[in-house]
Amino acid sequence: MREYNVAILGATGAVGTRLIQQLEQSTIPVKSVKFLASSRSAGKQLAFKGNPITVEETTPDSFEGVDLVLASAGGAVSKRFLPEAVKRGAVCVDNTSAFRMDPDVPLVVPEVNESALERHHGIIANPNCSTIQMVVALEPIRQAFGLKQVIVSTYQAASGAGQQAWNEMNAQAQQHLNGEEMTSTIYPVKGEAKHYPLAFNLLPQIDVFEDGGYTHEEWKMIHETKKIMLDDMDAKAIKVTATCVRVPVGIGHGEAVYFEVKDEQNASREKIQQLLAKAPGVVSDNLLKGAAWNTVQIAEKLVEKNLVSVTKR
Ligand code: A2P
Repeated sequence: MREYNVAILGATGAVGTRLIQQLEQSTIPVKSVKFLASSRSAGKQLAFKGNPITVEETTPDSFEGVDLVLASAGGAVSKRFLPEAVKRGAVCVDNTSAFRMDPDVPLVVPEVNESALERHHGIIANPNCSTIQMVVALEPIRQAFGLKQVIVSTYQAASGAGQQAWNEMNAQAQQHLNGEEMTSTIYPVKGEAKHYPLAFNLLPQIDVFEDGGYTHEEWKMIHETKKIMLDDMDAKAIKVTATCVRVPVGIGHGEAVYFEVKDEQNASREKIQQLLAKAPGVVSDNLLKGAAWNTVQIAEKLVEKNLVSVTKR
């Protein structure tokens, strides 16, 4: 049986720490693991199946001899390092948005479009957390009755913005309860000039605003849904619109999804409830099904299908 040398890029982050746990529980035969992060965390000790592993600073050569990379260290880090990993023969499952809209990169939720994995050229993208949990619930309905239109409103937890952002919300809550002014340096978008507290608040902005007036998070939900379900990010066959709001909760995104089916004659609330009751993966956690678990599930499928090798374009 083939065994795999695995690297986790962003191992110290909110998703990275869950990637470690999910890999520990997975069916992937692991020969070795490497935990990669920035120079800030180099030397820090983490564990894999009870064995201590020292976190290393990421460089292109970190990927020498690695078969499989699970990445969640931000888009810029993925853009910089994943092509280097692929050059060295590694297959990468990327939890960031860096490559999701590249037509050569499959965007995969195994319950919906597992077969897209067969077309990979070294990088497979894991969709946005809110998109994953929505398409897992919508796909059985689409299969049974077709879909015309989707209108989704999200209620997204603090941890979706990363560990530092989540820590900031907790600190703000403490400050507020102590009667102090809340310190805001991250939400809604780290790089922007103006910041607002998330504690005891709601922020109707996730990521930057696009030209059309949608935020980038909303744009992702619209176009990723189309790419996953119809293999075309601009598909017209299903109309999708999204409104995304950050809420002061640690873990767990909520979504209200309005949809219209094509086959109205045969669809009923009871039938849809029955479909959802037996659909796999419908109960969600933004850090697990929305990120780490879906990433490891993709890696398990790659192993099962013997697809952990890089084919030339
Ligand atoms: P570090 O802990 O060294 O900053 P989150 O999504 O929770 O914010 O986590 C981001 C993850 O990405 C962390 O593991 C972080 O490591 C890692 N990271 C951030 N910048 C880099 C970088 N330049 N190279 C490698 N890893 C990085």
